[in-house]
Amino acid sequence: MDQHATDLLTDWSALRSGIPPVWARYTDLIVERASGSWIETVDGERYLDYTCGIGVTNTGHAQPRVVAAIAEQAARGIHLQQNIVHHQPGLELHRRLPLRFPNPRAGQEYGLFLSNSGAEAVEAAVKLAKAATRRPLVIAFRGGFHGRTHGAMALTSSNVKYRAHFEPLMGGVHFVPYPYPLRMGGDAAALAATLDALDELFATVVAPDDVAAFVVEPVLGEGGYVVPPDGFLPAVRELADRHGILLAVDEVQSGYARTGRFFATQWTDTTPDIVIMAKGIASGLPLSGIMAARPLLDQLAPGTHGGTYGGNAVACAAALATLDVIDEERLADRAHRLGGRLLDGLRVRAEGKACVAEVRGRGMMIAIELAEGDALTPRPDLAKALLREAMARKLLLLTCGTRGQVVRIIPPLVTTDDEVDLAIGIIGDSLEAIGA
Ligand SMILES: Cc1ncc(COP(=O)(O)O)c(C=O)c1O
Repeated sequence: MDQHATDLLTDWSALRSGIPPVWARYTDLIVERASGSWIETVDGERYLDYTCGIGVTNTGHAQPRVVAAIAEQAARGIHLQQNIVHHQPGLELHRRLPLRFPNPRAGQEYGLFLSNSGAEAVEAAVKLAKAATRRPLVIAFRGGFHGRTHGAMALTSSNVKYRAHFEPLMGGVHFVPYPYPLRMGGDAAALAATLDALDELFATVVAPDDVAAFVVEPVLGEGGYVVPPDGFLPAVRELADRHGILLAVDEVQSGYARTGRFFATQWTDTTPDIVIMAKGIASGLPLSGIMAARPLLDQLAPGTHGGTYGGNAVACAAALATLDVIDEERLADRAHRLGGRLLDGLRVRAEGKACVAEVRGRGMMIAIELAEGDALTPRPDLAKALLREAMARKLLLLTCGTRGQVVRIIPPLVTTDDEVDLAIGIIGDSLEAIGA
């Protein structure tokens, strides 16, 4: 332990109390260093980190290539402001990332706008949709999480705490249910319920030609790690086309190889109009962005959107290195393979547990929903207890779900078979310990 850490030792609790409570926190761990799948605390404890900093460190903590790219660019210039100059990593990222646009239209050129956080990218998507269509409304899906700035918060419905006491929010947002197979009678019934709700909305409340965009997560994140029926995105695309509405997919949590494809949208053949990205984009440096076809993206006139730090040079260098690592280590394939191993192992350990309503996931976006009886009464108490037991066994996990009843498992995509097996064992033992 270095001197800095030793000094901190004397006064940790005082220092911790200086952080405002708005930062709801899962643990009190103070990190000495983090590398790959592991976090080491100042008192020498090692934890297997299957939180990934909420789905950010897909390439693992302190991935050497990313670290080197950050160091190299920092030495050449940290802040080379986008409105003033160009910098090389930014130019290169604007060339390379749009080549990843999911299911691109033939002959179409795509472009990229960069900002700092997921919420900011959501703001950019909504502003672009409004500016391009000259329409005022947005349709979002219940249980969705899109961030906590005023505009993004208006699209968020994964928990009332994100909205409570902040009204009035941005107007013009309407919600329909996200298709949630476990809670809506299976895939076909869930999809039908969502489409019926849209039909009803258009018949009774919202004129479709007032709608600028659908904003939707290809796999529901904070709302419960729900994999929608296969027909969901194509059906929304079809409605969007019928009414001249733009389709914005929020890939902030599901993107960057997390689900076994570079973007989760690629599990379908749906071509979105706007892709919203953040989290895994730069392996932990604050970077986010949207992609769209150039004629659409160019509808945002000069100066109508932006920000001092958007497209920061060091963050862009980290993003380029992140793309290299994802490609060279074939992290999408790895997420698919290891995600399957994790899901299968967890299902075996969850078998016969009355309060495990479902073990589900796509790639390395995996959830255990804790709920009871035919009514599927949510058991957030069990979800919390499972996190505590796992942490006692040195595995870090998170919760999600509209009632906090879902345990989400977000391994780094570089995790190993052995680490996956270790996690299965710990989660299995923790399920036993809480009497699920
Ligand atoms: C799907 C989705 N969209 C947007 C956001 C907001 O991102 P940020 O916290 O970077 O503002 C999140 C964050 O969890 C997210 O999961």
